[in-house]
Amino acid sequence: MLNRRHFVELAGLGVLAPLASGYTERARVQAGAAPALPQDVGGPNSLKAHAAAKGLSYGCAVNVGLLGRNEVYTRLIQQQASIVVAENSMKFGPMRPSPTEFRWDEADKLVAFAEANGMKVRGHNLCWHRQIPQWFDGYATKENALALLTTHIEGVVMRYEGRIQSWDVVNEAVQPSDGRSDSLRESPWLRLLGPDYIELAFRTARAADPAAKLTYNDYGIEAQDEASGKKRTAVLALVKALHAKGLIDAVGVQSHVSAGSEYGRGLADFVGTVSALGLEIYVTEMDVNDRKLGPDTAARDEAVAAAYREYLTLVLKNPALKSVLTWGITDEFTWLNGEDARADHLPERCLPFDKELKPVQAFFALRDAFDRKASAS
Ligand code: XIL
Repeated sequence: MLNRRHFVELAGLGVLAPLASGYTERARVQAGAAPALPQDVGGPNSLKAHAAAKGLSYGCAVNVGLLGRNEVYTRLIQQQASIVVAENSMKFGPMRPSPTEFRWDEADKLVAFAEANGMKVRGHNLCWHRQIPQWFDGYATKENALALLTTHIEGVVMRYEGRIQSWDVVNEAVQPSDGRSDSLRESPWLRLLGPDYIELAFRTARAADPAAKLTYNDYGIEAQDEASGKKRTAVLALVKALHAKGLIDAVGVQSHVSAGSEYGRGLADFVGTVSALGLEIYVTEMDVNDRKLGPDTAARDEAVAAAYREYLTLVLKNPALKSVLTWGITDEFTWLNGEDARADHLPERCLPFDKELKPVQAFFALRDAFDRKASAS
């Protein structure tokens, strides 16, 4: 007989997944397990099943600290996701307590969980201007920065070689509003290494794991407004330059979307240009914030669901779009209540499951968008 702690640990590691069919609800409850998830959205009704029917992967960002500790959260991810990404645990800051040490526990845990459950893993991310370790400022110099970046990328990528579907090698390196003529963001890496840091990061990742799809990932390229249009042009220039050198396989469109904003031709053309280069496209971090809307819950849920449906229908028209990941799976742990929270401080209703882990309209909108995609022929 499994005791509760043992059950939670095994569930967290995915060890119970193969037993799921023969494991009765009564036995679960006797084992002290939390109530079962709604069965009508499991199995063939899950997001991953509907995505797979169209040759797509659905997945989500995972709070690795909760994995195995919060049983219902863990089971929800097992039920819905065929691809996972660490929300924070594989970033430079969290992975590097000091210039010479790596911290592997959470990243190892996520990769083991994914493998035990037959899920793919996205690696996020190797080079970014945020979540840089505290020691970096007093330590990094123009002299040691190249070794710092390449040692980090080699260390992390080689540890998981052959086990990562795609790596976000460089994240958010473009920002036209920073005013540079090359539209690159004024980031610590740019300051230390100059614009070549991007190519250097991709070359190092390619050598460390030739099988991983190397991805450039960014935000602010989705909407139908002037700033997004400028950023799309700049991202395309970077992607084309990397493509000409054989260094890139995919573009990640983060897709932090706003209910009430317009998404259209500009995004469709961007996705079309990227796919014409022969690259894959991933929706890597989708959520829909409702901060432009009033407090009414039903109206917010409807607008959020409409944004999921319309946005995904638009991008899924392109056959190069291979996966859709939401940034989290339940409203309970969304990052959106921290940064840029609603002015009225109401919690955001931005993800397919609410705080009670019940599917909301957004869940059904996501599933409909998968269903309505033309089958790959
Ligand atoms: C966010 C996490 O969700 C937060 O927990 C963390 O405090 C900050 O980073 N673009 C990205 C993600 O590429 O890594 C960010 O994740 C959200 C925006």
